[in-house]
Amino acid sequence: MQRYSRTAIFLHWAIAALLAFQIAVGWALEDLGARGFALYQLHKSVGITVLALTLARIGVRYWKPRPAKLEGGWQGALASGVHIGLYAFMLGAPLTGWALVSTAKVKVPTLIFGVIPLPHLPLPAAAHGVAENGHGLLAWLGIALVALHVAGALRHHLLIRDGLIWRMVPGRSTALLVALPALILVGFVAGRAILPAPQATPAPIAAEPADETAPANIAEAVNAAAPADNAAANATQATADEPVDPPPAWTVQPGGRIGFSVGNDGETISGSFSKWTANIVMDPDHPDSADIAVTIDMASASVGDAYKDGMLPGDEFFGVAAHPTATFVAKGAEATGPNAYRARGTLTLKGVSKPQTIRFTLSGKDETGKDATRKVSGSATIARAPFGVGTGDSSGGLGPQVALTFAFTAKRQD
Ligand code: HEM
Ligand code: HEM
Repeated sequence: MQRYSRTAIFLHWAIAALLAFQIAVGWALEDLGARGFALYQLHKSVGITVLALTLARIGVRYWKPRPAKLEGGWQGALASGVHIGLYAFMLGAPLTGWALVSTAKVKVPTLIFGVIPLPHLPLPAAAHGVAENGHGLLAWLGIALVALHVAGALRHHLLIRDGLIWRMVPGRSTALLVALPALILVGFVAGRAILPAPQATPAPIAAEPADETAPANIAEAVNAAAPADNAAANATQATADEPVDPPPAWTVQPGGRIGFSVGNDGETISGSFSKWTANIVMDPDHPDSADIAVTIDMASASVGDAYKDGMLPGDEFFGVAAHPTATFVAKGAEATGPNAYRARGTLTLKGVSKPQTIRFTLSGKDETGKDATRKVSGSATIARAPFGVGTGDSSGGLGPQVALTFAFTAKRQD
């Protein structure tokens, strides 16, 4: 039987998978707020790729004509109609996307895959609404057409059994017959998988230590007492435009400190970690953009007492041989007051990962741009038992909660 060319087959499935990816990402874009910069860029880059692949596919269709239709009558006409509709979707979705970013109030530059600048189409601002609505609607139209298209393919395969499906599957391979359509699912799942985790709900979570500091609670009460402001903030969030800049990254300057203290039989043992690194991305005006990753070299812990320091790396405490580092990662933070923030993330210590909240404040001149600096200081209360820290005989008098404090200066990278 006549088949589609390899190139046409490749393009058919590649475009199908990328479209599924685009829809999965597209549906999430507007809810991402400041965290969305990179995903907007990716959505636009992949979208323009789909446009290029579709143009290539149309080119291939003229260069190597498609196999003759197998069916006439209304069924054949319906199949052709759906194909035309699918081409309209494959071209229309990227073009309306391109048009909507070209006519947005704030024109955000697009660098395709971070390399090739995408010019804005010379369209009147009035076209924005149509482009935006059309872009969202076309996705649904595309989904409906694909459903019809797949139903048609299944009808041929299962009812008519005329082998039409093999025209789009190389080598009559059953494995490929499963794998190629599965790529569409893979595209969609990949699109969902790369989305940042949903923001933690502002309601206090039970796992949080009971001794939350009073000032923070007051700050929350103040937040709650200003519902009008919150409503306004939410409203802007709901119609959030594409973020103009990626949130800035910060470099921790030498001289910072991460300290800890814990009660022990009425005394307090205090110490610090001398080796740690932090990767921090955060726009203080849009804390939801925060992306924080701290890695602590556990062997660098010291409480300033040679005997106790000798015990810390052992299995009773940090188990450094098996778990040389502890990490804290958090995506997103919330403002709890002026210059005060809270980030809920995950602490991995001694191989155990648990939710952990940290609180911090930023101070320093309100300068922006490269080399701006902020002083960061904060704290966390860590329940040591779940991490298996302090398990042995010599830990009998240790308090259950370890107070962590940190202070450092961060310098803006770009
Ligand atoms: C290739 C096919 C594409 C598909 C299937 C697609 C699909 C989608 C979908 C389903 C949404 C969510 C719409 C909504 O719920 O209202 C969306 C949003 C968006 N898309 Fe695309 N898209 C594609 C290409 C593009 C391209 C090429 C661009 C820009 C160059 C683009 C820019 C955007 C923007 C900025 C949004 C944010 C929502 C808005 O402001 O309305 N898209 N896309
Ligand atoms: C499980 C999913 C899919 C299956 C099983 C499938 C199967 C097929 C088959 C067997 C053909 C050849 C029809 C013939 O020889 O007359 C075909 C053609 C076509 N498919 Fe799909 N397809 C799928 C998904 C998609 C998707 C997601 C799109 C695009 C949005 C798409 C767009 C097209 C187009 C435009 C043609 C016509 C090609 C031409 O003749 O120019 N397909 N498909």
